[in-house]
Amino acid sequence: MSDQSQTNTRRATGRTYPPGYGIVEPVANYRPWDVDPEFAELYGSIKDHTMVDIYRLWTLWFIARQVPAGDILEIGSWRGGSGAVLARAAIAPVRTVPARRVYLADTFAGVVKATERDTYYRGGEHANTSADIVRDLLASVGAPGVEILEGVFPDQTGAAVSGRRFALCHIDVDVYQSAKDCFEWAWPRMEAGGVVVFDDFGFYGCEGVTSFVAEIAGQGLTVVPSLSGQAIVTRAG
Ligand SMILES: C[S@@+](CC[C@H](N)C(=O)[O-])C[C@H]1O[C@@H](n2cnc3c(N)ncnc32)[C@H](O)[C@@H]1O
Repeated sequence: MSDQSQTNTRRATGRTYPPGYGIVEPVANYRPWDVDPEFAELYGSIKDHTMVDIYRLWTLWFIARQVPAGDILEIGSWRGGSGAVLARAAIAPVRTVPARRVYLADTFAGVVKATERDTYYRGGEHANTSADIVRDLLASVGAPGVEILEGVFPDQTGAAVSGRRFALCHIDVDVYQSAKDCFEWAWPRMEAGGVVVFDDFGFYGCEGVTSFVAEIAGQGLTVVPSLSGQAIVTRAG
């Protein structure tokens, strides 16, 4: 496999990756995002407010529309792009469920809790946003009623939603300790059939999150890795 590996670490970007990282090119060719007009229109409206690519956004859209009853929580919203996709999905479910609440959490002061487990992040990255930027985006895409939780989650804002039950939790916080704290807070509050999606699992620079996901897989949870870079865990009961 060394030839393949060499190719995948240098082509396109010219960037050289360490072993275990490189360009990923799945051979699947189903592209539902091209033929889903509601998603396509939404993506056009939010793409300049997100670091999340269309593959991961469509996965969030698909999951969020089908999860069972329960609220939706995103931790790590930055400028609101992926949160807006979740909020719009919440009002377009493919099954009959009671109305959901949607909560979007961010420090709005950047990444926190970076430690020696994290290779790239040092703290304070992605501070170029605000709660008002997210509110304005939500209003522009017709997703009202979303609650924004401003501060470190769960330390400063978890108490505001500690009595809620969740059908979907999107954890996009970049570093090991935040991912761990958010997951350990959310997991006991997930409904049966509810889904936790880690955004950062498959990304060079987010090895802390990759290692946390490996830890929970090693502790008996069934984690589904996606070639999109996400890792997905469903709560059985
Ligand atoms: C990569 S960005 C999120 C990207 C976003 N989902 C999008 O659509 O582009 C990561 C965000 O996580 C936030 N963050 C990291 N740890 C956090 C924590 N413990 N509580 C709240 N926000 C956190 C950072 O402030 C940053 O805005």
